[in-house]
Amino acid sequence: MSKPDSNVLIAESEIQQRVGELATQISADYAGKGGLVLVGVLKGAFIFLADLSRRLTIPRVVEFIAVSSYESGSASSGAVRLVMDVRESIEGKHVLVVEDIVDTGHTMHYLMEMLNTRGAASVRACALLQKTGCAQVEVNIDYVGFQIGDKWVVGYGLDYAEQDRTLPDIRVIQPED
Ligand code: IMP
Ligand code: MG
Repeated sequence: MSKPDSNVLIAESEIQQRVGELATQISADYAGKGGLVLVGVLKGAFIFLADLSRRLTIPRVVEFIAVSSYESGSASSGAVRLVMDVRESIEGKHVLVVEDIVDTGHTMHYLMEMLNTRGAASVRACALLQKTGCAQVEVNIDYVGFQIGDKWVVGYGLDYAEQDRTLPDIRVIQPED
């Protein structure tokens, strides 16, 4: 699975440069706002969140949340279930949900709705990747690293059946490999 380097879609250097740009933009947008709560969505966002959070220049704290999608056959049913919540209250706080990838949008939509009901000062979304043309629900992603096509990608936190999460770059899974 994903042996040849020819499957690389986004090189490590490109990822690092883009993460730096996102951090600069986010730091500017939240400057003087009294701090930011980064909510990383496990497991896929853990590496992106680690790199992004260390490049911010504003006061920030890190939280994690975990969800699972109900599957029906091989396709996601669109129903999302919370399996691990944040540890601290987000009431009155500026919150940025940090995701690895937005595909149908169901996961991010669910999280934005849930966090918004808790009285946060603001809730925005950041995703390293967004698949174009795959949205089933409209959800605005405030910060997007890269737009990609409808293909399954692994690496930099993203997995295929728990494999390939720790690759340094983003690769396309080729079923024939
Ligand atoms: P959505 O709810 O359909 O937007 O799916 C988002 C979630 O599905 C992400 O948080 C990932 O966990 C997973 N996902 C979607 N596409 C990919 C992919 O290409 N590679 C790895 N995980 C993916
Ligand atoms: Mg995920």
